[in-house]
Amino acid sequence: MVSCRLDVTLSLPHHWQHNCRVRLSEKAKFIFVTLTCIEKMRKISALLVVDDVRLRKHISEVLVKHGVDRCEFYTAGEDALEQVRKRSIQILYADLRLDDISGVDLVRQVKKVFPAIYALMGSTQGTARDVISAMQAGATDFIIDPFEPELIEKAFERAVRAVSKHPSPNPINRTDAKSLITQDKALFDLLNTAKKVAPSTATILVTGESGTGKELLASFIHANSSRHREPYVAINCAALPEQLAESELFGHEKGAFTGAVSRKIGKFESAEKGTLVLDEVTEMALPLQAKLLRALQEREIVRLGNNRPIPIDARVIAISNQNMKKAVTAGAFREDLYYRLNVIPLTIPPLRKRKSDIPLLADYFLERFCNRNATVMRRISESAMELLITQPWPGNVRELENTIERGVLIGSGPELLPEHLILEETFSAPSHRPSISTGMTVREMEKELIFNTLNAVNDNRTHAAKMLGISIRTLRNKLNEYREAMTDG
Ligand SMILES: Nc1ncnc2c1ncn2[C@@H]1O[C@H](COP(=O)(O)OP(=O)(O)O)[C@@H](O)[C@H]1O
Ligand SMILES: [Mg+2]
Repeated sequence: MVSCRLDVTLSLPHHWQHNCRVRLSEKAKFIFVTLTCIEKMRKISALLVVDDVRLRKHISEVLVKHGVDRCEFYTAGEDALEQVRKRSIQILYADLRLDDISGVDLVRQVKKVFPAIYALMGSTQGTARDVISAMQAGATDFIIDPFEPELIEKAFERAVRAVSKHPSPNPINRTDAKSLITQDKALFDLLNTAKKVAPSTATILVTGESGTGKELLASFIHANSSRHREPYVAINCAALPEQLAESELFGHEKGAFTGAVSRKIGKFESAEKGTLVLDEVTEMALPLQAKLLRALQEREIVRLGNNRPIPIDARVIAISNQNMKKAVTAGAFREDLYYRLNVIPLTIPPLRKRKSDIPLLADYFLERFCNRNATVMRRISESAMELLITQPWPGNVRELENTIERGVLIGSGPELLPEHLILEETFSAPSHRPSISTGMTVREMEKELIFNTLNAVNDNRTHAAKMLGISIRTLRNKLNEYREAMTDG
């Protein structure tokens, strides 16, 4: 049994199915959380569940006339439901009575997962009660006589107009969409919390090591908030030159400073009604921190070169991969701002602490990169998977993703094998490794020497063992020991 308490789309990319079924039943839990994804290119697809041939013809003529790129017709509700989960659909039309489930049930199920789909229903036999149930299920329109050309035309015209206004905020389950995947209890609970707080306007602070999925979590929160149709604006505070940072965030008027040739709207204003993500917030310069604090407290900003305050309504998500408390203690980050941002703290555990996610993510990335590169690598061999599971992954999910991508490019044949995996960081310890000094234990010193030697010979163990004057076997045992110590902690 597959269970998904998050109440979002649950699906397996086709290609995985036989690969994953065993794992599914073994673990009895598998979560595939699809994110809302904003498509850059506005394409409109319509899915219609109608069996009357004449009606089908008329509807498709109307839709083509109004610039809909793709119309697909089905007769069974279950088939339609399956298709909705697989592709991005903007408009759904369902007859009241379908072959299997009722049109109202279909609309209800679709709207629950894809609230942004514009749903219409129609029937010549609908009663007032049917119309009410259709609306309660989430349909926007009910065509009381679909055989009346004018009614169809008007209703679909409204539908196309409505969906063209907004970028598509539908969760897309296609394999190229970015999804947040986990079967780890701790991360799963965290996502549940994130889902619960998403609709509020409270500021959220996302922390975690680099590559753990912090940005992905921020878009997950946006996708699950009532702001999902509004802008999602992300800014990397570390990438901002200090002089430009203020104008980037708050905007400026023409002539506010040399070079300000025209008015510029800042990120806070661009994110109006939506979500503003401040990535690497700890990198922000202290003077700007003061201005950010004021903006958050007053809920208003002032553009450079203007004193008129502008009210703002943007939900702020701050991201940091540092221990922010330390930054506060060190005086690099304002304490008051820290507390102002830290209303809802969400910390993503590192990949080494959620090992059960490794095979899941590895399979998912394999599928994605194979699709992208039109390769037909079907599975990850058992030995390659074992190797993946035992890695410490200092670069977390990003590193795993890159490793699989390289593997797909290097490998050929149906299986990803250990030799296709270039594990860059295999045994190099974290970068904060101390160098040899008084106060270290002999064991620490030995470890240090071994890592340095391996580094120097590009991880060639035969070479390293020779230089260290120990057997390859001893070297291997020592590395295993370090690795165990590392993954245990
Ligand atoms: N749980 C996850 N499921 C699927 N992909 C993930 C997951 N976590 C991270 N990723 C992927 O790993 C990469 C790094 O994630 P990102 O959100 O940029 O991390 P961070 O901001 O913490 O450095 C991205 O390509 C992201 O899509
Ligand atoms: Mg990031």
